[in-house]
Amino acid sequence: MCGIAGYYGSGNTCEVLLNSLKRLEYRGYDSAGIAVSSDFEIHIKKAVGELDDIKSDLDLKDKKSKAGIGHTRWATHGEVSEENAHPHVSCCGRFALVHNGILENWEEMKRELGEHRFTSETDSEVVVHFIEQRSQDGCVETAIREFMKEAKGSYSIAVLDSKREEVFVMKNGSPMAIGIGSDGLFFASDIHAFSEHTENVVFLDDNEYATVRGSELVVKNHKGKIVDKQPKTIKWSKKSPNKKNFEHYMYKEINEIPSVLRKLEKTLDRSQKNDLNKFRDMLKEHEKIIFTASGTSYHASLLGVYFLQKAGIEAQALIASEFKNYERADDKTLLVPVSQSGETKDVIEAVNHSRKKGADIASITNVPHSTIERMSDVNLRINAGQEICVAATKTFINQLYTIMRLSSSIDGANYNADLANALKNTIQKNEDKIKELAEELSDEEDLYIIGKGEAYPIAREIALKLKEIAYIHAEGMMAGELKHGTLALIEDNTPVVSLIPDGNSSIASNVKEVESRGANTIKLSPHNKDFWFPERNESFVFASTILGFLLTYWIAKRNGLPIDKPRNLAKSVTVQ
Ligand code: F6R
Repeated sequence: MCGIAGYYGSGNTCEVLLNSLKRLEYRGYDSAGIAVSSDFEIHIKKAVGELDDIKSDLDLKDKKSKAGIGHTRWATHGEVSEENAHPHVSCCGRFALVHNGILENWEEMKRELGEHRFTSETDSEVVVHFIEQRSQDGCVETAIREFMKEAKGSYSIAVLDSKREEVFVMKNGSPMAIGIGSDGLFFASDIHAFSEHTENVVFLDDNEYATVRGSELVVKNHKGKIVDKQPKTIKWSKKSPNKKNFEHYMYKEINEIPSVLRKLEKTLDRSQKNDLNKFRDMLKEHEKIIFTASGTSYHASLLGVYFLQKAGIEAQALIASEFKNYERADDKTLLVPVSQSGETKDVIEAVNHSRKKGADIASITNVPHSTIERMSDVNLRINAGQEICVAATKTFINQLYTIMRLSSSIDGANYNADLANALKNTIQKNEDKIKELAEELSDEEDLYIIGKGEAYPIAREIALKLKEIAYIHAEGMMAGELKHGTLALIEDNTPVVSLIPDGNSSIASNVKEVESRGANTIKLSPHNKDFWFPERNESFVFASTILGFLLTYWIAKRNGLPIDKPRNLAKSVTVQ
């Protein structure tokens, strides 16, 4: 969370930074700020709110400057306020700094710093004073190396030095990508921030820092030794993401599902075929398969376990934030991290931890060249394109599809070769009914979604969406568990959505249990003629998920909620 950007070059620094921040806004949208160095002075502007609303407050375009840094914040230490917004400036005004991550020993460092003028409650501000204090012999790099030695926690940091008109960046645990363009060097938390400027990217590894000499990038390790980094060439569409004619990214991204699924199908059959086979072989060869993920990606992992168990492969799924408390990884383990961003801190920690114990890593990610992809022995990309809405929608569908293809490559189970079309119809043919249902449910405060077998992870996923986007308290649960407690909450008209694939008659008695207590049951099932479902039953998990996504969207829209940027959340969770 938090997006950081930096620029050193001949373009308009403020403009480059504002464009980068717009593309990084999914990482946090509490406040934003930029600093540029001009005439050997720092010029800084920051404000609270979303970038579109505060853009004019951050305008420094009139400053002639070749170096600058910017930040979009998701608050961790300290409330959402202008004081706590980044960049932070050192006492003498020479340095400005932006930070993504959490510094664990900031209080200790602050005490040791002694007399400095602190103006915020953040851990990050400590770093800029540290750099100032330790650069007193004039050498910023010495200060950076000392910081890297003493700091505990995670960070990617950009420092602007107004005296030398330079940008320094350093990384440990949070991502830092550097774009090498014809008009300068671009520093950012992710590569999309500068995709319009260059295809050549260097990724910093942990305990590395970078600086600019002349206009050349120099990367060093924490001991000051130069590291030879070869830029990777990234192929991407130069078009900026936009909503086209859609009011919200969430709705646009749900409607993109058929096309991104088609793209994924093609790559799994062609360019990713070898990796699919390698992944399959690794699943077969390892004694222990452990999926790990967070949020929506965890729900995809639960389905992974379901499919693999059916295919005769023992697997389990662990929530990444609890990984260390439950895992027993060893050299017979294949860890399968599933992550849209490939940057979720808890998942990265689980990968690091398992690797140390000798596990192999086979990952499923979306964002190309992400940290998790780079840490893996084999990786499958779900190829869903950039997802802007905080809620994962199209990426969840592509995660499910990838997992289904992996398991069917083991047991030969059927999958719907015409799934993309079936899902297109699912969206189109159910829209009116879903809008009606959204109207009916939009004032509800509590909602239950029940499923069994393959429908259980989907029940949890729909509930998660209802919470984060529609702000409805929703519980997604195993239908058979109702009678062990939750049934006590069912009263007249309590809404209960049941997910009933064809042939799953065992859930019928659970539906009866809630109905006989007065619940208002909504059956998402091919047997309910109110809804259109694809004929093939393997499509049920996909189709019912889409109905849940659409229901969430239309409730949130009806209630005027900030659909793409729900309160208190950020898309990429890069802190623990
Ligand atoms: C929910 C959502 C989050 C993410 C979670 C993991 O709609 O998007 O729950 O699924 O933060 O993120 P990734 O998949 O990037 O690791």
